Amino acid sequence: MRAEPLARRGEVLLRVEGLVKYFPVRRALGLWTTETVKAVDGLSFELRRGETLGLVGESGCGKSTLARVLMLLEPPTSGRAMFDGRDIFALNRRERFDLRRRIQVVFQDPYDSLHPRMTAEQLISEPWEIHSDVVPRRERPTRVRDLMERVGLNPSRARDYPHQFSGGQRQRIGIARALALEPDLIICDEPVSALDVSIRAQVLNLFRTIQADLGLTYIFIAHDLSIVRQVSDRVAVMYLGGIVESGEQAAVYDHASHPYTQALLSAVPVSDPRQRGRRTRILLAGDPPSPTNPPSGCRFRTRCWKATQLCADEVPALVDRGQGHPAACHYASELPSVASAPNVEPGAPPGPSAAAGRQASRPT
Ligand SMILES: Nc1ncnc2c1ncn2[C@@H]1O[C@H](COP(=O)(O)OP(=O)(O)OP(=O)(O)O)[C@@H](O)[C@H]1O
Ligand code: SF4
Ligand SMILES: [Mg+2]
Repeated sequence: MRAEPLARRGEVLLRVEGLVKYFPVRRALGLWTTETVKAVDGLSFELRRGETLGLVGESGCGKSTLARVLMLLEPPTSGRAMFDGRDIFALNRRERFDLRRRIQVVFQDPYDSLHPRMTAEQLISEPWEIHSDVVPRRERPTRVRDLMERVGLNPSRARDYPHQFSGGQRQRIGIARALALEPDLIICDEPVSALDVSIRAQVLNLFRTIQADLGLTYIFIAHDLSIVRQVSDRVAVMYLGGIVESGEQAAVYDHASHPYTQALLSAVPVSDPRQRGRRTRILLAGDPPSPTNPPSGCRFRTRCWKATQLCADEVPALVDRGQGHPAACHYASELPSVASAPNVEPGAPPGPSAAAGRQASRPT
């Protein structure tokens, strides 16, 4: 039998404190250097039981690395992650084994993550081979059927192989597999990015239904802001290994106060036809700097149109400077001050209508 979780709905389930993950850099001929890739560099956040934290940011900002460290697939360089009151990096072997059951993952590409020679039934029941106490062997066929029904798959297809399912159906197998161990937290790493737009809406709906039914907690990773908005209660925006802005979903989307968030939001397609062509789009210059050698002070300063000497000299803390939620910017302000931005497309400044609304874009 599984132990009762300590944290109740609404209480803190996971508290990440100053998490750092550096990778050593290997040069040609396999020689190591003294350089490191600063993939995650001092992340702190809280996650409450039953909520969804959306984690959004450009490719390479460290989203998947954070996920892998939290799933104990990579050791951290430093920092703590308190899960149900215990530091997951200080657990003994037995405790780590138990934790691996409680935190599950759904990956981006269901085809890559499902063994091609295993049937749906084998794939869904495989986690019970390792965590054999979760479901008694004689109950497993019934439980597989239940799980297939829960994720919207016809149980009559239990003996089919991954290639016989569509992309959306394969992702449903991945979700059923994650649910098999009755986890508390599911880390969803770009779970709908590889799916057609029409299928995405259905799978996002499934995530929400399951959460409502089972009281699950999600970390939902994506680089698409409109997807993160649809599923998240709270949002954390990442840039080059750090969180630059975080808060309630509506606060971050409707009152973005970090220039990077404002630039990301300005690029989100507008659902309201009346607003189309009226919004200023901020085009960020260049690629993000190398995580091996990030800029001093504010890491965003090499692409920021508001940067001053202070931004090069001092790391801006992730705090609320009066805008209502934390942002890591010395000059955090709801107004993007795009007049001084070097690359803007004309129109009205981004505001509450800049991104698709949660209700409006909710899949049906
Ligand atoms: N095992 C590793 N060894 C060295 N560098 C790594 C390793 N894993 C990730 N990195 C580097 O860490 C940085 C963050 O990578 P990560 O995969 O976490 O980004 P991401 O935000 O998930 O990107 P994407 O949106 O493309 O999935 C990148 O610069 C990446 O090259
Ligand atoms: S701290 Fe400076 S460089 Fe960084 S986002 Fe704010 S204004 Fe831009
Ligand atoms: Mg990734």
